[in-house]
Amino acid sequence: MQTLIARSLKYTNNELSVLDQYLLPHQEVWHACDSVAQMQSLILSLKVRGAPLIGLAATLLVAYLAEQGQSKAQLAQAIDDLESTRPTAVNLMHCMAKMRIALAQDDHLGALVSTAEHLFNEDVSLCDQMATLGAELVNPGDNILTHCNTGALATAGIGTALGVIYKAHQQQKHIHVWVDETRPLLQGGRLTAYELAQWEVPYTLICDNMAASLMMSGQVDKIFVGADRIAANGDFANKVGTYNLAVLAKHHQIPFYVVAPETTLDRACPNGQAIPIEQRDPQEVTGVSGSFGVCQWAPRRAKVYNPAFDVTPACLVTGWVLNSGVYSQQDLVGDVFK
Ligand code: MRU
Repeated sequence: MQTLIARSLKYTNNELSVLDQYLLPHQEVWHACDSVAQMQSLILSLKVRGAPLIGLAATLLVAYLAEQGQSKAQLAQAIDDLESTRPTAVNLMHCMAKMRIALAQDDHLGALVSTAEHLFNEDVSLCDQMATLGAELVNPGDNILTHCNTGALATAGIGTALGVIYKAHQQQKHIHVWVDETRPLLQGGRLTAYELAQWEVPYTLICDNMAASLMMSGQVDKIFVGADRIAANGDFANKVGTYNLAVLAKHHQIPFYVVAPETTLDRACPNGQAIPIEQRDPQEVTGVSGSFGVCQWAPRRAKVYNPAFDVTPACLVTGWVLNSGVYSQQDLVGDVFK
């Protein structure tokens, strides 16, 4: 396989390694990964996270295992096991479906390697296309609010929603970003703040429950978020708390955009109700952990509800920024996602 290098995933000198996103921003630790069980554990613990990145990390591992001489049966099992690691982001299923097709070829090794290289390189250009299209929606001086982390850490390229923000910054639009900290796992406070600081984009970190008052006081001009799965009717799943923002945006008449590559579209999924939502460990809500250690604040046996994602209905979306174009409510009538 050719050398492939992204911000949090790389394949160099016959070794696959991932940047530990759970330890960021205070520690930059890379893990070499050479087995399905290890990759599943990295993905489940959110050391490897973000819809496009999960799919690509699993893909590169399958190509690596093929190069190591694993049999067709072993590779088929690896694809099945990796695909079942997290249920919501459809990019993982999209990538594993492509790898299954490659595995069925006569020259399955060549096909798996070239499919993996293609999916990785394709994601880089999909990010660029979305960023270019999305940045056109940004006005000079805009205050943009975003949720979770959708940057270079979550993709092979510059990101989805955060890629749009970065592009607008590069175009000297003098934007400022409100960063939702994104409870419970703080992808905003830990990762988005870290990426924006590195890119020198002006930002202010807020707790998720501060967005409403900012909107009421006219301090949010636009909202850009990513997606883990977009259904055929335009409903989409993204990090829990996205739906809150969409409702607030509607009430305050603030444009609300979702930015995602076409690999996040699930044309077979009729609507948001059919998107499987991952439920996670109660401990993520009863306390917080990271490079700083563990802090538990809730009573030991507190009952917890912890869905990783929520669904935003299409009626609350101003525009869907895909790599192929920016789509509006009118386009939904034309069945563009079907
Ligand atoms: O649980 P995570 O951190 O993997 O959730 C990530 C998100 O919800 C992102 O917004 C989404 O994957 C888009 S990333 C380009």
